Parts: sequence; structure tokens; C-alpha cells
Amino acid sequence: MTHSYRITLLPGDGIGPEIMAVAVDVLKVVGEQLDLRFEFQEALIGGAAIDAVGEPLPADTLEMCRNSDAVLLAAIGGYKWDSLPRHLRPETGLLGLRAGLSLFANLRPATILPQLIDASSLKREVVEGVDIMVVRELTGGIYFGRPRGVFTTETGEKRGVNTMAYTEAEIDRIGRVAFETAQKRGKRLCSVDKANVLEVSQLWRDRITQLGSEYPDVELSHLYVDNAAMQLLRAPKQFDTIVTGNLFGDILSDAAAMLTGSIGMLPSASLGDKNPGVFEPVHGSAPDIAGQDKANPLAQVLSAAMMLRYGLNQPTAAQRIEQAVLQVLDSGDRTGDIMSEGMNLLGCRAMGDSLIRALERS
Ligand code: IPM
Ligand code: MG
Repeated sequence: MTHSYRITLLPGDGIGPEIMAVAVDVLKVVGEQLDLRFEFQEALIGGAAIDAVGEPLPADTLEMCRNSDAVLLAAIGGYKWDSLPRHLRPETGLLGLRAGLSLFANLRPATILPQLIDASSLKREVVEGVDIMVVRELTGGIYFGRPRGVFTTETGEKRGVNTMAYTEAEIDRIGRVAFETAQKRGKRLCSVDKANVLEVSQLWRDRITQLGSEYPDVELSHLYVDNAAMQLLRAPKQFDTIVTGNLFGDILSDAAAMLTGSIGMLPSASLGDKNPGVFEPVHGSAPDIAGQDKANPLAQVLSAAMMLRYGLNQPTAAQRIEQAVLQVLDSGDRTGDIMSEGMNLLGCRAMGDSLIRALERS
């Protein structure tokens, strides 16, 4: 039976369109091979949307995303829009998309591939075998808490304010996703907070601890965020699944990404209860190399694989893509960010062609 899926593509800014083109080609080939029909529709987000229609998340983009089976996003942002007022920045579009679709759970895997161990800035024995899943809360915490803004005090001085807040319900729902994720992996969950200083973190720790009693098969531990950052670099193999709030997750997921050699390799999935998920690379729009055919499309391609697995429940198709990525790396093909001696340096498009050949062989 043919399955049909409506996929909203959000190529965004910088290298976004280049890496998206590769992912779409890959999806088309896998679709043909496995009898999946993808109906792609493209929409504007980020700087591209600001330039075209004057706002980073046009209402029809959000509507299109809501009415699709999954959303594949590339990257947003660039120097060009950095000095605009906050409501007109590309990042505001991305945050609006996450909030608008209630995508409270962000899964960011950091797995070190044997082929890329030497691309890591850490020693081989430290990173070999690393396989971490960061579960980041995505629609709450200091990113969304109120009050926020820059206010003028009675003395006329300006004062910037953001609020880190979590309700019990917000903690519980991300906690459940994290425990269930851990159950499917190594059954170890480390919750990261700053409970030694922050009340919001104490509530976080108390709720996660309480939830833990419902998941006796998962070994739960807690770390303060500063220690967690240190442990990620010192001995990353101690981690299986990590759950944390929005800001700590933003920071720790970049750190975890770097263990694997390049942030250019890492996909992510943002999931909610009812709306379609958004699948996007962890990396940004890399405006410095945009349009030069230098970008690594693999995080985007692996995000398409996550979309197949978590968004469309097509694990076989996901696996096919992941296998193709491994084969291409085995063959020695590399983009600049993961290049090492003796390997074969390719541009973004050529890397895509190599993936297609690998898929066609499989
Ligand atoms: C990420 C990014 C975003 C975030 C930015 C672009 C708003 O850093 O997805 O990690 O902070 O969440
Ligand atoms: Mg980030």
C-alpha cells in the first residue's frame, strides 16, 4: 500500500536551501524504493520570510505546518537580520513555530560514528562509543517566561528581565518523554538542573524524582548544570539520556554535539502531543559559507531520517537513510567540517549525489 505524506519544507536562510535540496532528493529516492509518496510544500520562515513579507513567521507558514504530516526545517538566521528589533528577528520565527505547534520535547541525539572519531577535538578513548540523547524542554523555561523585556527603573536606569519558570505539568510532560526515551535506550536518565541555586530547578528536581518512581526500570540521576557540562567533556560515556530545561538544553546539546566531531552531523526532532513534529539539524544557518556549496548536508539528511522514524512511523525508511550516511562515510567521502587526512573532500551537492548512489545500491 502506498502511504502519502504531506511534508512542509522550511529551507530558511544561509546554507538552509542547499542542505534542504539534498534531503529532498534523498527522500524522493527512498520514497520510490519503499512506496512512500511525499507531497512537498515549501513555506517561508526566518530571514527569508522577513525579506519577502516582513515577518519571520507568516501566519500561512504556521497554518501550512499545522496541516501537514511533518515539517522539515533547515536553518534560520544571519548577520543581515541581527540588528532588527527582536520581534522581527529570524530566531523569533523559529521560537514562534515551536510554541505555535506546542513542540515541548526536543530530542537531540549525539552519537559518535566510528568513521568520524578523529574529527572530534577530544581523545579517541574519551569519545569512542559515545551515544547520548539530550531531551530538551522546548516551549517553556527562560525562553518563554514572563515578565520579560527591558524596563526602565524609577531611577531611569534600564533593567533587562527574563524569567525562568516551569509549572509541574510542564516538568511532568517532558519528564515522561525523557523516561520513555531512556526506556528505549540504555535505561539511564540524568536530569540536569541548578537546584542548588534556583527554586525553579528545585521544583524540577522534585517532580522528576517523583516521576522516577513510575519508571523503576530507569536508573535516575541528577547533576547541576555546571557539573554536567564538565562531565560531558571529561567522561561523556557516563551519559545515556539527559533531560533538562530549555536554556540548559540549548547549551548542553551544543557541547554534546561537539563530542561527535562536528555539529554538521547532528539532527533533532521537536515533538508535541497533537501537532506534526518539526525535524531540523542542530546547527545553524552558517552564513559564512552559504551559497558556496561547502555545507555538510548530513545533519539535514539525518533529520529527514528522524522525521521518518518519529514523525511518520516509517523506521525502515529511516534506517535506509542512516545506512546510506554510514556507507558514504565508510567510502571516505567528507565535507570540509569533517575532513581528515586521506579522505575525499566533497561539496554539499556532491555529498548528496554520493548518498543517492549509496541508496540506489542498497
Ligand atoms: C537551537 C538554536 C535556537 C535556540 C536559536 C536559533 C533560537 O540555538 O535550536 O539550539 O536557542 O533554541
Ligand atoms: Mg542552540
